[in-house]
Amino acid sequence: MEVIIAPDYETMSSLAADIVEELVRSQPAAVLGLATGSTPIGLYQELARRHREAGLSFEEVTSFNLDEYVGLTPDHDQSYHYFMNENLFQHIDLPLENAHVPSGMSDDHEAFCGSYEQAIAQAGGIDLQVLGIGGDGHIAFNEPGSSLKSRTRLKTLTNETVEDNSRFFESIDDVPRYAITMGVGTILETRHCLMLANGEKKADVVAQAIEGPVSAMITASALQLHPQATVILDEAAASKLELSEYYKWVFEQKPA
Ligand code: PGA
Repeated sequence: MEVIIAPDYETMSSLAADIVEELVRSQPAAVLGLATGSTPIGLYQELARRHREAGLSFEEVTSFNLDEYVGLTPDHDQSYHYFMNENLFQHIDLPLENAHVPSGMSDDHEAFCGSYEQAIAQAGGIDLQVLGIGGDGHIAFNEPGSSLKSRTRLKTLTNETVEDNSRFFESIDDVPRYAITMGVGTILETRHCLMLANGEKKADVVAQAIEGPVSAMITASALQLHPQATVILDEAAASKLELSEYYKWVFEQKPA
């Protein structure tokens, strides 16, 4: 696992955009795995800026999002379909028919989840998967106790996640309790994982995920099993890491 500690959120987002840009420029038909939440907003803004100002094109890119709430229509302003349109898709040239976000409105969730896995496989697998980390250590909506081999499925959200996400809803009772999410096993099959975290609130869980034991209790710790995982943190999110000086030294020595 490569751990990069950036001085601030803007630098974290810009370093992440460098990784996405390098892939898309060298492989225009790349398959991106995308995430929602407040963490990747800076990355998406930077990608939109590079599209606008530096000719970065997503015309041949295919994307797959990690998750979606069950019961929210794509036009609901808290759905992840809506989030992706607002924060990324409407600002770049990725064809919408290539942009996959799980449906939370299917009448057969199990069949839908199977077809989502199939679509990822048919696209040739995900080249680069962007990830955030939840307060309870989740990646996508793989809550504590999720099998480290899990696949795309319906998952019940923990109280902690419902509380964390209630800031986006009028009342906590409006937060959906269920989501469709890629599994930990699905994520581990992607060719490169790029996890981002910022802010002091994430410091403890980031330290557990990176330096603690691999455990289904912190599903982000499964990235320790991934052959190519990059984690980019701001100073605050990195503040509880034991080896932070080592990670910084490694990054400084890295050839350009
Ligand atoms: P956040 O959410 O980016 O809003 O902190 C992360 C997550 O729950 O995966």
